[in-house]
Amino acid sequence: MTVLASSLDTKSPEHAANREAMLAKLADLDAEHAKALAGGGEKYVQRHRKRGKLLARERIELLLDPDTPFLELSPLAAWGSDYTVGASLVTGIGVVEGVECLITANDPTVRGGASNPWSLKKALRANDIALANRLPCVNLVESGGADLPSQKEIFIPGGAIFRDLTRLSAAGIPTVAVVFGNSTAGGAYVPGMSDHVIMVKERAKVFLGGPPLVKMATGEESDDESLGGAEMHARVSGLADYFAVDEPDALRQARRVVARLNHRKAYGDPGPAEPPKYDADELLGIVPGDLRTPFDPREVIARIVDASDFDEFKPMYGTSLTTGWAALHGYPIGVLANARGVLFSEESQKAAQFIQLANQRDIPLLFLHNTTGYMVGKEYEQGGIIKHGAMMINAVSNSRVPHLSVLMGASYGAGHYGMCGRAYDPRFLFAWPSAKSAVMGPQQLAGVLSIVARQSAAAKGQPYDEEGDAALRAMVEQQIESESLPMFLSGRLYDDGVIDPRDTRTVLGMCLSAIHTASYEGARGGFGVFRM
Ligand code: COA
Repeated sequence: MTVLASSLDTKSPEHAANREAMLAKLADLDAEHAKALAGGGEKYVQRHRKRGKLLARERIELLLDPDTPFLELSPLAAWGSDYTVGASLVTGIGVVEGVECLITANDPTVRGGASNPWSLKKALRANDIALANRLPCVNLVESGGADLPSQKEIFIPGGAIFRDLTRLSAAGIPTVAVVFGNSTAGGAYVPGMSDHVIMVKERAKVFLGGPPLVKMATGEESDDESLGGAEMHARVSGLADYFAVDEPDALRQARRVVARLNHRKAYGDPGPAEPPKYDADELLGIVPGDLRTPFDPREVIARIVDASDFDEFKPMYGTSLTTGWAALHGYPIGVLANARGVLFSEESQKAAQFIQLANQRDIPLLFLHNTTGYMVGKEYEQGGIIKHGAMMINAVSNSRVPHLSVLMGASYGAGHYGMCGRAYDPRFLFAWPSAKSAVMGPQQLAGVLSIVARQSAAAKGQPYDEEGDAALRAMVEQQIESESLPMFLSGRLYDDGVIDPRDTRTVLGMCLSAIHTASYEGARGGFGVFRM
């Protein structure tokens, strides 16, 4: 074993200051998570309870195996928008009858559980996760369908929800719909496209058009039950496979359905793994409040990998990127971690080689981000930094082993791409509260804008408004800063959630376990042309 040594001084004032800054950010994060948990607020929660109904997360809890964790995804969806934090939908991974499932639950306390543009993005992301990892999909349905005022944003792209359900089914990935309430119009195709359907007595309403619409369309008089009640669908139409007398009964039956799926993981459980040698609590004090101060990612690796055991690859070459082999909860991984912000040609080539090795050996990759991007300047351009950065991006793009990304600190510019940013389809991507991501840093971006404006004025022979420039720079800096923060980015579904650094090992372990439901094989060739 090659146990990492730590030089972290947990008694130093820097550590204490970093820890304090991180704890303050975590307190802010808790306050935002609480908004998602509060759903539509007290009034709607009380009304829902008075109707004898369970809340979305209570339904999930009864569905899951007792005392097993639920990895909730994107709880901050819609943050910073006009819609309620959480986007009226709960999604995540949990274990049902020993089977890891992708679970979604509409939150009917938020505008009747109607889907707004962020709910749609979140639901589509959940479907992607189910498909990539072959996780059975259990949808706990009670939704007012499309959020009507924002229909223009969701009607046309929203068709993908139903397309995905049938594609999952075609791929042999089971889909289960449990209908607790409204599931009308387009929503009727959620049970309509699912492999297994359970409906709750006198609660489920599954019809293409409700009584008023039917009256308008054909003049026929009807009622909810005869058009789309659970009993009608169980006895007459055959859309419901199982009739549940109440909500707990529906969840019990959903568990029985999953128990009978005969869904098998591609890889067995690797068994118990040795925990890291260092305390995860110390992760709070590693990232400096000011991201311009570098930190050693080995201190992070030492606190998340099994037994803090890490075999570094090319430790003396391209030293601002640390690469090496480890295991996490028993799963082998290759780690790429930024050490000093900037990526040079050497780091890029080292990354490309390392990614190829992981593909030859079928080893998943973990990217730990703290990069300001690829190096600029005459010397580096002449040294071929574009070609070398392109090699790294080529390797990341065409790699076929599963990728995980964690944004610890900075994740700027093309460095975000090379380190497997969101657009590079990592199986999961999480951010720490200390992370920041944007095309470049706020000061740099404001400075570039100012230089461009100054040159433009000079070209037109106009005087430059220095006062206006200072105000503009300050405004732009503030805007870019707020748009770089993890809550903002999580709100836009650019990650799968903002996590407490102390939970990193657990979260990645759950992801790796879910990933190993599907078989994978690294790319043996099939990379694009590497420009040398
Ligand atoms: N779009 C936008 N807002 C919606 C909505 C939708 N599809 N469905 C419900 N809401 C809003 C309601 O206007 C209400 O807002 P308010 O409290 O500010 O007045 C809030 O969500 C709660 O709705 P309410 O009708 O009081 O809740 P409920 O639990 O009694 O009934 C539904 C829920 C979903 C059965 C009912 O609201 C409904 O039938 N909605 C329309 C469904 C529909 O036709 N959707 C189009 C499908 S494509």
